[in-house]
Amino acid sequence: MLNDSQQRYGLITRFFHWFVAVLVIQQFFKFADYINDGEHWLGDTFGPYHTSVGALIMLLTVARLLWTSKQQAHRPVTQGLLGKIARSSHRIMYVCLLVMPPLGALYIFGKGYPVKLFGMTLLEKPAAETAWMINLGELHGILAFVLVALVLAHFCGALYHHFIRRDDTLRRMV
Ligand code: HEM
Ligand code: HEM
Repeated sequence: MLNDSQQRYGLITRFFHWFVAVLVIQQFFKFADYINDGEHWLGDTFGPYHTSVGALIMLLTVARLLWTSKQQAHRPVTQGLLGKIARSSHRIMYVCLLVMPPLGALYIFGKGYPVKLFGMTLLEKPAAETAWMINLGELHGILAFVLVALVLAHFCGALYHHFIRRDDTLRRMV
């Protein structure tokens, strides 16, 4: 029940998957800052939690990968080219979830602001802006687009398996 099997992902894998999925999707509301000069209720509502939730996603991803390393051998394997594409896209999503938070923090710090997580100051306000931090930190926004494209493809893949191939790929994760 807790562990994965060839037929079904166990409770812990499913908890990680759906909890992180919800957190990641709400991180995407940050795109709402592009609307109406940043004055949009979605950005205003979720924006203040962006850094803390991002850090939480990173911690959960580290724990999830440790769990995955123990479960990999029991997991269902999708054969063929589609399986290979799916596995590669899962890996790229994991990379995004691990590197986006530090890049976001670097961007904020490089811009001359303090980095605060869960109401605590992680990095004090720096004396000045730092160009290389801003340049590197801008990768955060690029990876955000990569991640959104992968999540959309991932979502469509799950629907394709369920409604067109009519296999149990989606069922074993719900
Ligand atoms: C995996 C976790 C995270 C995800 C999925 C995520 C996602 C996003 C998205 C979708 C955007 C909008 C992209 C854009 O403005 O072009 C964004 C912007 C931003 N994020 Fe994150 N984020 C995460 C973690 C963090 C963390 C931990 C921080 C800071 C400590 C952070 C700081 C920022 C900043 C400063 C922006 C605005 C950048 C700009 O205006 O160009 N993010 N993020
Ligand atoms: C939008 C709704 C989503 C649906 C319907 C969905 C569906 C699924 C399904 C059916 C699987 C199992 C695939 C298989 O057994 O081959 C899966 C696995 C996976 N999904 Fe999603 N997913 C969603 C969102 C997300 C999000 C937002 C992320 C992360 C950004 C994500 C990351 C993963 C990863 C990494 C796996 C591989 C298994 C694991 O390591 O836990 N998914 N997803």
